Amino acid sequence: MELRHWAERILSADTLEEKLFAPDELTDLAPGPAVFWNEPVRPVELRFHKHTRKDRLPKLREHDHPDKRAACLHRFAGHELLAVEMMAYALIAFPEAPRAFRRGVAHTLREEQEHVRLYVERLKGFGVKLGDLPLYRHFWAYVPFLKDPIQYVSVLSLTFEMANLDFAPHYGASFAKHGDEESAALMQRILDDEIGHVAFGCSWLKKLKGPEESTWDAWRAAVPERLPVTRTKGITFLEEHRRRAGVPEEWLAKLQVKEDPAPVVRRPSLEICAP
Ligand SMILES: [Fe+2]
Ligand SMILES: [Fe+2]
Repeated sequence: MELRHWAERILSADTLEEKLFAPDELTDLAPGPAVFWNEPVRPVELRFHKHTRKDRLPKLREHDHPDKRAACLHRFAGHELLAVEMMAYALIAFPEAPRAFRRGVAHTLREEQEHVRLYVERLKGFGVKLGDLPLYRHFWAYVPFLKDPIQYVSVLSLTFEMANLDFAPHYGASFAKHGDEESAALMQRILDDEIGHVAFGCSWLKKLKGPEESTWDAWRAAVPERLPVTRTKGITFLEEHRRRAGVPEEWLAKLQVKEDPAPVVRRPSLEICAP
C-alpha cells in the first residue's frame, strides 16, 4: 500500500480498528500533492470534547484509586491516537520531503499505533474502553502551524514527544509506587520508544535547518509563540533521557531555564496561520 493511501485511510477512519490498521508492506511511489488536513474523522465515541479546567488529570496522590489511574491511562491513549493522526497528516502534507524522512514518519506512526493498542489493552484491566472518558483536540490544535517538516519535528517530536521523556517516567514511578506494576511497565515501554521519536526529530532538524543556523535557533523559529519552551518539559526535567535521544548539550542547559528565552523571529508561515 502507498504511504499516502494509508495516511488518508487513517485520517478518514470512523472506527478505531481502521485508525490502527497497518499494512505489511508500504511503498512511496506516488506521494501526491501537498494537502493540509483540517480535522481527522473520528468514530462518534472518540470525537473531540472541549477541555476545561475541571478536566485536569488526577493528582499523583490519587493514584491509589484504580479509576484515577485509568483516567490517566485513558488520557495518554488519547495522546497516542493524536500522534497517529498527526503523523498521517505529515505524510499527506509533506510529499516533497526526503524519502528517508517519510519512511521515518511511517515507522514512528506504526509505533504510535502500537502505543494506542497497548493502552487500550491495559485499560481493559480497569474495565474501561477508549472513548468511555472524554478525548480532547490537544496536540491537534497545533496542526495549523505544521506547514513544513521542520515545523513538524519541532512541534511534535521536539516539544510534545520530548515532554513525554519526563511525563512517562513520572507517571510510571507513581503507578509503581501505588502497586500497579503493569501500568508502570507500560510507561517504561512508551518512554523507550519516545526516546527514539525524539531522536528522529533531532536528527532531521539537523539535516533540514539552514547551514548557518544552530539547531536551537531553527527549533525556536519553527515553534509558534503560543507554545512556550516549558511545554518541552514535564514536572521533573530528566536530562539523561534527552541525552539518549541525542538532544544537544546546548539545549539541555537552555531548556532548564525557568523563564522563556527572548522572542525570536518566527518563520513567515507561522505568522500567516497565527490565530
Ligand atoms: Fe507514543
Ligand atoms: Fe511518539
